Amino acid sequence: MSTENTADPQAFTEELAGTVTGVGLVWAQTSGGVIGKDGDMPWDLPEDMKHFTRLTVGHPVIMGRKTWLSFPEKYRPLPNRTNIVITRQKNWGDSPEAEGAVVVPSLDDALLESQFVDGGETVWILGGGEVFRQSTDLANVAVVTTIDVEADGDTFAPELDETWEAAASVPADGWLTAANGTRYRFTKWVRTQG
Ligand SMILES: NC(=O)c1ccc[n+]([C@@H]2O[C@H](COP(=O)([O-])OP(=O)(O)OC[C@H]3O[C@@H](n4cnc5c(N)ncnc54)[C@H](OP(=O)(O)O)[C@@H]3O)[C@@H](O)[C@H]2O)c1
Repeated sequence: MSTENTADPQAFTEELAGTVTGVGLVWAQTSGGVIGKDGDMPWDLPEDMKHFTRLTVGHPVIMGRKTWLSFPEKYRPLPNRTNIVITRQKNWGDSPEAEGAVVVPSLDDALLESQFVDGGETVWILGGGEVFRQSTDLANVAVVTTIDVEADGDTFAPELDETWEAAASVPADGWLTAANGTRYRFTKWVRTQG
């Protein structure tokens, strides 16, 4: 990628938004791999929210029921994206809390559904932990924000095995510093086999 050595996070996000196709995973984690705690994320990083929105807007997004419910009601469905939510509960799709979601019974159904909606050439899997664990063998890219905080958590990032390699990071070394002082970096991982 031409952005490989830049320290400009917006240019990195823009390039990813313009080039990634297929199935992508996107998450933010602490350096220790925590992605969630008590149904929420234990940090505040507006720069990452901006990056996440820029990346995913215009494309279908797939998530587990718990991640859907982790968004405050007023922020769901995520706008300008078809929000596909998976659950094993037969009637959950009829409940008020499912309003605005396309509810399907499996990850396969979610991926199938994503191909019938606008922007389906790129599909973003948003998590959470349980859904990511089922997705690392079917995605071709993962865009990870690593946040330089220590936090306890109950939900963890999936392990990317040797079939994955880091293709680009911003910055190439060290950290970006957010307006609130939090340090973070973006990494694009690609799956090279399988
Ligand atoms: N840092 C990040 O980037 C990030 C991203 C996303 C989420 N999170 C955090 O992660 C946490 C939520 O993650 P989680 O692992 O607890 O839950 P999750 O993966 O969001 O959702 C799990 C639920 O999804 C449904 N599900 C999962 N696999 C399924 C399958 N194969 N078929 C049908 N339904 C399936 C089930 O719903 P039913 O129980 O209804 O059957 C399951 O209980 C929250 O703390 C959230 O804030 C963080």
